[in-house]
Amino acid sequence: MKAILLAGGLGTRMRPSTLGINKHLIPVYNKPMIYYSLSVLMLCKFKEVILICDPSSKAIYKKIFSNGKYLGMKIKILIQKNPNGIPEAFLVAKKYIKNQNVCLILGDNFFYGQGFYESLKKGINLKKGAFFLAYNVQQPENYAVIKQKKNKIIDIEEKPKNPKSNLAIPGLYFFDKNVVRYCKELIKSNRNELEIVDLLKIYVKNNLANFKEIRRGISWLDMGSFDDLNDCSNYIRAIEKRQNFMISSPEEIALLNNWISKKQLIEIARNYKNKYGEYLFNLCQK
Ligand code: TTP
Repeated sequence: MKAILLAGGLGTRMRPSTLGINKHLIPVYNKPMIYYSLSVLMLCKFKEVILICDPSSKAIYKKIFSNGKYLGMKIKILIQKNPNGIPEAFLVAKKYIKNQNVCLILGDNFFYGQGFYESLKKGINLKKGAFFLAYNVQQPENYAVIKQKKNKIIDIEEKPKNPKSNLAIPGLYFFDKNVVRYCKELIKSNRNELEIVDLLKIYVKNNLANFKEIRRGISWLDMGSFDDLNDCSNYIRAIEKRQNFMISSPEEIALLNNWISKKQLIEIARNYKNKYGEYLFNLCQK
């Protein structure tokens, strides 16, 4: 299975902050936003990740991640020339996907909580179809919403005025190898984008869409607006201040996964000369 981390888009809701910088590089508490979604992929044990960004951000991502070797990974950076919609990611990466299943995470989504990775097992081991998550939210009209009957999805509606449920779909999806073919069939919407909902609907129509509802023990936050980003920063700060561990440090996860050694982590930690570096250094003393 291939893994895509999507970090393109215009970030219009966060202008002027995004006029000169890719949204996913903005700090969320003490790390760039993209660390959180990269960490999800790493915890799913995806050692090879395709990072897709806009043309002007490629050099910055290259500077941060290089080719991923320092994390024991392979990170390939590809460009989405224009923000033509989320499903375009599969077309940009088609040469690398070939005939494999794909996991896609949006770089502005945050997930945290006990048992989160167990809820993704069905996606990671996907044989056929699509798998995604559902989360019970207060204002479903802001999201893609599941319409179901007896636990079976019958439709997905994008930002519905009269939502048929409170189940919103977060930005983490697993698709079978047909995804590239289906994306080629998609037509741009009124807002001139290929829509992820239209892709999901193809799987629903073919009776091949499965989801798992994630419950209150797991947090899902979107970081794409100033308020949401601020909430997320405060949430991470509160947890990290109280407990002696960090949320979503890629270097720590690389060590946990045995992708790098303690010796390698000490080398990384030396570059920081701050609390982040101290934290990494302390991990190597255990
Ligand atoms: P959005 O939040 O829909 O779009 P955006 O990030 O450009 O922000 P805004 O709505 O404020 O203009 O995107 C969701 C995620 O998908 C985000 O991480 C960016 C990514 N994305 C792309 O990489 N390419 C695209 O063409 C689109 C539409 C989104």
